[in-house]
Amino acid sequence: MSNSILIIDDERAIRKTLSEILSYEGFKVDEAADGEEGWKLFSEKNYDVVLCDIKMPKLDGLEFLIKATEKNPDIPVIMISGHGTIETAVDAVKKGAYDYVAKPPDLNRLLITIRNALDKNKLSKETRVLKRKVNRVQEMIGESEPIKRIKDTIEKVAPTDARVLITGENGVGKELVAKWIHEKSNRSTGPLVEVNCAAIPSELIESELFGHEKGSFTSAIKQRIGKFEQANGGTLFLDEIGDMSLNAQAKVLRALQEGKITRVGADKEIAVDVRVVAATNKDLLKETEQKNFRLDLYHRISVIVIHVPSLNERSEDIPLLVDRFLEDIAEDYGQAKKAIDKKAMEALTDYNWTGNIRELRNVVERLVILSGKTISLEDVSNYVAPV
Ligand SMILES: Nc1ncnc2c1ncn2[C@@H]1O[C@H](COP(=O)(O)OP(=O)(O)OP(=O)(O)O)[C@@H](O)[C@H]1O
Ligand SMILES: [Mg+2]
Repeated sequence: MSNSILIIDDERAIRKTLSEILSYEGFKVDEAADGEEGWKLFSEKNYDVVLCDIKMPKLDGLEFLIKATEKNPDIPVIMISGHGTIETAVDAVKKGAYDYVAKPPDLNRLLITIRNALDKNKLSKETRVLKRKVNRVQEMIGESEPIKRIKDTIEKVAPTDARVLITGENGVGKELVAKWIHEKSNRSTGPLVEVNCAAIPSELIESELFGHEKGSFTSAIKQRIGKFEQANGGTLFLDEIGDMSLNAQAKVLRALQEGKITRVGADKEIAVDVRVVAATNKDLLKETEQKNFRLDLYHRISVIVIHVPSLNERSEDIPLLVDRFLEDIAEDYGQAKKAIDKKAMEALTDYNWTGNIRELRNVVERLVILSGKTISLEDVSNYVAPV
């Protein structure tokens, strides 16, 4: 994809020369004859870099720069400075311009400056995407009553040490709720340790949760610190707790009752300060009736129960979610955000989302990849399901 550049200069000759050279170098070039025209283009389109003269009628270069950095601080603006305006150019750099070049521009130097500006812009975008992926807990999108209630409960419950059981179908956002409980708790500077109880074979779960001493069983070739200890001072998220074996349930119950654990093969107990948050897509009370889940453990972990309803029960949140996913996916791919027309959005809102938010996100990603600039109803029927 070629980079796009906006040249704002009131001197026609300079605009023309720069435009020719930069087009030849493979840029998509737009020209504006004064700051006001430049600002109009800048607000309508997405440029990768802007070249901007300082002395211009109507809106001058410095005024343009201030408006532009306010609107989008990521787009580098390179000032073009005449004889009398070098000082202003230096001032512009202090105010956020990427750099300046003197008139008449030395073309090699100008090209290098533009390339550097593009590189820097690309890097800062990448950093932002990575930061979002690494650090930040995904925002919980939704304005529906159930989501408002859940957010409200999280606010109230998070700062306490109360154990929370999160229930709901696959992909509704249970893990996200757990992350926010940790994030908003007094333990947020401590670790959040996740254990997927369904993924660990029952004979290994004890060692996984509580650790073991070297030599305590055949494959225990070195000491291992378990998840409870790793979560000390933080939160332990027991995901899919409904799939934990009865044997492991008994051990977890003991750890919760006593606030102490024993590594497999060790004889001394270790005190741990851990808040447990658990999640399940099963009906745990029913599981207790069928003797698959211990009732005493159920009561220990369910001081507060947060039920996350299915997406179909809060379909009014779908447009908001779609919009956010379009934005996130565009940013991940480094592309402009795709539009979606009204009919297509209605079809997505009416669709039966058995896989809930996870399925919705995958579908939006698929639509972004396969559709044109605007996602249409036809795209939805082709790539999602017949409507
Ligand atoms: N309210 C929300 N706003 C934005 N994204 C959300 C929301 N709820 C869930 N998601 C996203 O949807 C995906 C699935 O959510 P999550 O993993 O929390 O679901 P889950 O209930 O734990 O699913 P499973 O039962 O399959 O483990 C994640 O990428 C998550 O970030
Ligand atoms: Mg989950």
